[in-house]
Parts: sequence; structure tokens; C-alpha cells
Amino acid sequence: MQTSPRTTKAKPNIYLSGFMGTGKTSIGKRLAQALGYRFIDSDEEIEKRCAMSVKDIFATLGEPKFREMEREFMESGHPDSGCVVSCGGGLVCRDGMPELVRSKGVSIVLFSPPEAILERVQKNDKRPLLNQPNPLETIKSLMRQRQQFYMKSGTAIATSPEISDTVKHILRIYKHATSKKFRR
Ligand code: S3P
Repeated sequence: MQTSPRTTKAKPNIYLSGFMGTGKTSIGKRLAQALGYRFIDSDEEIEKRCAMSVKDIFATLGEPKFREMEREFMESGHPDSGCVVSCGGGLVCRDGMPELVRSKGVSIVLFSPPEAILERVQKNDKRPLLNQPNPLETIKSLMRQRQQFYMKSGTAIATSPEISDTVKHILRIYKHATSKKFRR
């Protein structure tokens, strides 16, 4: 199975996928800073385009419409190089999306334990899928359902408690995928 492509494009994008609360935004911003790339968040781009929050899109237009917008964002809604792209947690969890994301650049999937995820997502109520009486059970169940998609979406890494360790690790993967020196 192909994970991260060994690409020949100049400054290929890095895509960060993984469950809500795995740290895609904070890690992505640090990566962008380290590489001098632009940071893009798929949720923010969709919110700008609709002039509506993700929460309101789910409530008024519905989840399937949001998933369509995520696909459009991936297909044509962002620059194709020089960016670190944080993908909403469910973006890759549709048929064809893991392949689409992998075809666009170097694709990384972050994994964190459900308890750590709960701690991070509890800080706000922006995530409609987790605004429920038992969010830990929802997290575990959604993670099980999504595992097959995440595993097809790129190089899987476990996040470290220290963000800078995760950032360094992703930079190594990126260097390996993009440098001629390391190609076989
Ligand atoms: C979702 C994750 C969210 C956002 C939306 C749905 C999901 O993004 O796209 O609430 O289905 O996992 P983050 O992963 O950035 O929180």
C-alpha cells in the first residue's frame, strides 16, 4: 500500500488528517512556520466560503452538504504547493478521499488516545458530532468506524505529549518523501 507519495513537485503540500482533537491545527501551524509555508485549515476555508460556522452548516445544511464542500475544497479549493493543510477529522472518511488526499502531496495521519482527545475537544462546543451526553463513547465508536479510512490516508503517526517532538518527526517524514537524496 502506498502511504506518503515520493513526489517530484517543488514544495509539495503536507496534509494532516486524523480524528478531531489530535492537534492538527497546532502541529500544522508549527510545521508551516518551520518550512515557511502557508497554513490552511479546511474548516476555516469552508466557513469563509459559506460565511457560516461549521456548527451552523451542520445544523442548517446538514452533514452530507458539508462533506461535499470538503471534497470540493480538496479537489480545487486550495493552492497545490507550499502549504500545510489541516483537514477536518472526517474529510478523509468517504470513499475516494484517502486516495485524493494522498495524490495531492505528503499525507500524514495523526493518532492520539481517546482520553487525550476528549480532554482537548472539551475546551469548546465547536464540534457538532461530539456535542452529546457521552462524548468519550462517541469518540471511541467513531474512531473504530473511521480506522479503515485513516489507515489508507497516509503515514500514520502517534502524537507525542510534546508538540515539538511530533513536529520534528513530521519534518523527517516530509524530508524523506521529498528529498532526492533519500530516494531509492
Ligand atoms: C469533524 C471534524 C471537525 C469539523 C467538523 C466534523 C469530523 O474538524 O470538520 O466538526 O467529522 O471529524 P477538526 O478535526 O479540525 O476538529
